[in-house]
Amino acid sequence: MRTMQPGDGVVRKLLASERERFRDHLLRLDKDARRLRFAHAVADSFIEDYAQRMTDMGGIVVGMIVDGEVRAAAELRKIGDNWGREAEAAFSVERAYQDQGVGTELMGRIIRAARNRGVHLLYMSCLAENARMQAIARKFEAELRFEYGEVIGEIVPDAADYFSLAAEAAEDRVAYLMAVLDLTARLVRAA
Ligand SMILES: CC(C)(COP(=O)(O)OP(=O)(O)OC[C@H]1O[C@@H](n2cnc3c(N)ncnc32)[C@H](O)[C@@H]1OP(=O)(O)O)[C@@H](O)C(=O)NCCC(=O)NCCS
Repeated sequence: MRTMQPGDGVVRKLLASERERFRDHLLRLDKDARRLRFAHAVADSFIEDYAQRMTDMGGIVVGMIVDGEVRAAAELRKIGDNWGREAEAAFSVERAYQDQGVGTELMGRIIRAARNRGVHLLYMSCLAENARMQAIARKFEAELRFEYGEVIGEIVPDAADYFSLAAEAAEDRVAYLMAVLDLTARLVRAA
């Protein structure tokens, strides 16, 4: 286990140009984590294709970046062409970084992003058999209503407010800056 120290990881939205880092994170998931994440066993080729289409459908990926690598990710995907009342969410945290509150933080970001887009129902596959996801869901009882053992979370209240919109917008500006700094650091290392 890699014990996280305060300030070790940066949680921010990933830009489309960071899909390779997202891919590398998903490829590092072990067999069990891949099955829980995708609801079935997946090969490397599936992940490569999946990550290549990271934001093709206008979805959002929030990542936790540690020393330039994405170590955890949460996705919010539209169902259909536009953001509607329903969306799909999925989470992945590499084993060495689990049980340190990362999934909980990502869940908070995804609920806020969903609320800001008027999403009311979040579908999260694998919840029924996933003890860690259930533990996280319990922490969001005030914001998410789950049928026990069901895979749908209802966001309460479902309306965005000024503060949730402003907070996401402010974080997006920082995220863009951080992504540019990360890219610059990589280019310098490669030179
Ligand atoms: C599910 C997942 C995203 C959680 O991430 P995480 O960073 O470990 O989550 P957190 O540390 O925020 O919370 C995990 C909680 O589960 C609890 N937990 C751990 N093992 C547990 C178990 N066997 N039974 C019950 N609770 C358990 C932890 O104690 C923690 O709760 P606490 O904060 O109240 O102590 C991560 O484990 C993961 O990527 N798993 C594989 C993929 C997956 O299942 N994705 C979800 C499908 S959508």
